Amino acid sequence: MTPQNQPQHSLTEQVPDAQHLNPATADDAWVEVIQRMDVIYADLVNSQVALEEKNAELEQAQQFIESVLSSMHDVLVVTNIDGNIQRVNSTLEKLTGKDNTQLCNQSLNTLFPKAASAQVDEFPEKIRSGNLVDCEIDMLNATGESIPMAVTCKAHYDYKGRLLGSVLTGRPLDEIRKAYRELQETHEALKATQQQLIQSEKMASLGRLVAGVAHELNNPISFVFGNMHALQSYEKRFRKYLEAVHENISIEEREELRKKLKIDRILDDIKPLIEGSLEGAERVKTIVEELRRFATPKNNKITDFDLVELINSSIHWVTHSARKKPKLITAMPDELFITANEGYIHQILINLFQNALDALEDSAHPALMVATKEDPDTVTIIIQDTGAGIPEENLVKLFDPFFTTKPVGKGTGLGLYISYGLATEQCNGSLQVENHENGGALFTLSLPKEVAHV
Ligand SMILES: Nc1ncnc2c1ncn2[C@@H]1O[C@H](COP(=O)(O)OP(=O)(O)OP(=O)(O)O)[C@@H](O)[C@H]1O
Ligand SMILES: [Mg+2]
Repeated sequence: MTPQNQPQHSLTEQVPDAQHLNPATADDAWVEVIQRMDVIYADLVNSQVALEEKNAELEQAQQFIESVLSSMHDVLVVTNIDGNIQRVNSTLEKLTGKDNTQLCNQSLNTLFPKAASAQVDEFPEKIRSGNLVDCEIDMLNATGESIPMAVTCKAHYDYKGRLLGSVLTGRPLDEIRKAYRELQETHEALKATQQQLIQSEKMASLGRLVAGVAHELNNPISFVFGNMHALQSYEKRFRKYLEAVHENISIEEREELRKKLKIDRILDDIKPLIEGSLEGAERVKTIVEELRRFATPKNNKITDFDLVELINSSIHWVTHSARKKPKLITAMPDELFITANEGYIHQILINLFQNALDALEDSAHPALMVATKEDPDTVTIIIQDTGAGIPEENLVKLFDPFFTTKPVGKGTGLGLYISYGLATEQCNGSLQVENHENGGALFTLSLPKEVAHV
């Protein structure tokens, strides 16, 4: 009660004794008494109003608690310090078929089967010693059946922090198990889909790689093949000419034959034919070596290697089978040695270049710009294309798994997700994306110059 609500004057406090006063003074005294009574009455009225307001607030709070308790899906039991029930909610009333008044002051044990009574008896002790009870235990329903529940029981204190008893909440385990089972099934389904997608992405990459390799090998091999055919026909003419020479024909006849068989032209041709074939064989060798490097990305192996060479080889791999080759503009030193996992960086570069190439498919003047920057501890690789760029709303989703704008079968949306993980977690670097002010996407891959050898 606020001081304003308390009667501030007492009737006997300062009122002079009327009998010992003359009549005029007695009248004054009575007037004063009446005035004080008025003041006290006004105080009382104020207190009454304040009390009514408090009552209304209390009722509202009570109704609020009631509605919260009755809308709870879990069962709720409030006990006193001895473990006797003080209050239950409507879910427990429904479960047990007994109402609040029937259960009030009953032992907590009445809610549990006999087999669980030893465990329930321990609740008050645990609560007193400040422990939380969290267990699976059976509760009895209206027909006396045991219902497995997940129960927690916690201490309950008054506003001064004194222990009043406990609050027990419980939820049928069937529901939890069902929800858990559903979650598990969804998780399994998601994992299977993810595996399938990764698998199909692998197959698609393998398909692209095989097609690229076949295409790339086809050129030098047909080159060597054509040269060998030419050499085969030259060998026939040589043999004919040499046989004639060995048959001691005249000089005129020999010169005539030499001209007819075009021996001088053959001699001029042999050198470039052999050189060309050797070059073709050399290219086949390089392709096989690069393929081997691609197939075994030296996982977890930190080595010193030339980043510029790796960038060039990645561009080569991605563009060699492209229908439309973009114009390539590079700003890189002759060599740039770093210590890192070459396989991971190769994988990131292939993904970035492949994406750029895809973005350039419909471009009238496709161009790919690659630059490197160096500072004492880091190297930065900047890859920019002249494609359509990335819509603003997609920029934040680009590194999410399965985010793709490509048709089914063309993209899985894993390329950048995997690349981001490799760049940040495996290589201790960063990968960022933005749109260039002149259009086209710009990816920035930063890598430490040196990662410790493992
Ligand atoms: N250089 C780029 N220009 C424009 N959009 C790009 C560029 N790089 C990536 N994107 C966008 O980001 C999306 C996600 O790229 P990401 O590499 O993760 O998957 P994807 O290329 O669609 O499929 P995947 O790489 O798995 O075959 C792409 O679908 C594309 O919309
Ligand atoms: Mg991609």
